[in-house]
Amino acid sequence: ELPFAESWKIKMVEPIRKSTREEREQWIKEAHYNVFQLKANQVYIDLLTDSGTGAMSDRQWAGIMMGDESYAGADSFFKLKETIQRLTGFEYVIPTHQGRAAENVLFSYLVHEGDIVPGNSHFDTTKGHIEGRKAIALDCTVDEAKDTQLEVPFKGNVDPVKLENALKEHGDRIPFIIVTITNNTAGGQPVSMENLRQVRAVADKYGKPVVFDSARFAENAYFIKTREEGYADKTIKEITREMFALADGMTMSAKKDGLVNMGGFIATRKQEWYEGAKGYCVQFEGYLTYGGMNGRDMNALAIGLDENTEFDNLDTRIRQVQLLARLLDEYGIPYQRPAGGHAIFVDAPKVLTHVPKEEFPAQTLTIELYLEAGIRGCEIGYLLADRDPVTRENRFTGLDLLRLAIPRRVYTDNHIAVIAAALKNVYERRAEITRGVRIAWEAPLMRHFTVQLERL
Ligand code: F0G
Repeated sequence: ELPFAESWKIKMVEPIRKSTREEREQWIKEAHYNVFQLKANQVYIDLLTDSGTGAMSDRQWAGIMMGDESYAGADSFFKLKETIQRLTGFEYVIPTHQGRAAENVLFSYLVHEGDIVPGNSHFDTTKGHIEGRKAIALDCTVDEAKDTQLEVPFKGNVDPVKLENALKEHGDRIPFIIVTITNNTAGGQPVSMENLRQVRAVADKYGKPVVFDSARFAENAYFIKTREEGYADKTIKEITREMFALADGMTMSAKKDGLVNMGGFIATRKQEWYEGAKGYCVQFEGYLTYGGMNGRDMNALAIGLDENTEFDNLDTRIRQVQLLARLLDEYGIPYQRPAGGHAIFVDAPKVLTHVPKEEFPAQTLTIELYLEAGIRGCEIGYLLADRDPVTRENRFTGLDLLRLAIPRRVYTDNHIAVIAAALKNVYERRAEITRGVRIAWEAPLMRHFTVQLERL
């Protein structure tokens, strides 16, 4: 049998540049030891996020040239709507400029002060749009997700018992249940079809609707096909239809599985939600047939959604993430197991065992990896967790991870080998890394974007 290879070839390239350790020492200091403050050209391999950083196909670029920029009723909108209807079965579509905008528009209609919105780990903007309305985002993720070394196939699942308890206790305060597919915060971990069915059953029992935060829905479908019994012979498109049949609506950041650099949407089968949310789209985003997107971008998105619900494209991507995981296994570097869809999440306190939690191990590891090779990862840990809104204490209860997010169709397996080797170098000198960072300045909310740090 022949070895595996990518399901595409490369037509256009973009140069990237290495730097010296001295340069990086200077740059990261100027950035207050916060990688968000670095200039992109100070980065060699950029794993900050897989959001909006992917490469479009020649077909998508052709779609860009054919965009209909009419203010109302643009052809590109109807092309996008038809694609979303076909892939999800949802009749109503509202385009938005990105995922958090979809949340803002839909939640403006659905979420009110005092509400509780249960689900698996809410993404920060999702949580922000709930808490910003003086409501509560209640995390009902399975406990397995907290043990990074536990190898279970669907670590992103909702715990149906926790969910049902929430509904029993707070039923009248719950406007809907939200399930994030894949579960980014828990490590890009998928949610099984069986679990989606369980959530639907609990929702039906208590008469509640279900929303999917669908940023990485295609990767979720890939894992259902490859890991869940009964799905091996189904196509990705069949699986996505089956997934969405279990929800009432979705919010979408198209910057991930839509394979575009900017874009998002809401889709739903509920006319009432469409009618209720559409005014907020006009108010915050734009008229209903563009809602924050150019016509050309809607074309590219329609094509991207179709491409990324084909098995070969997903297989190429996920295998690359799994390659990084295999190399880390070889070097003994601990990460959230098994490898998720879009990233590897390194378990920083297990690597930097000498750095106390008060000195932010995952952020320290992020800085070390940048210094080592100019690779930019992202802390998904104690800094990102913000302070407790009541006690103002740092929240050290969750995981403290370094996320290495892999952009779609951007880097080659050689880059993956460099990433793994750089991390290995840091890992080998981990005993010498005994101090972390201290906060010099921070914003009251979502501090990780702007925080200024000092090295200890
Ligand atoms: N939901 C999930 C699961 C996400 O991962 C994101 C963004 C959003 C919603 C918000 O979408 O960025 O288009 O407004 N995640 C990015 C990340 C930023 O790096 O994981 P957006």
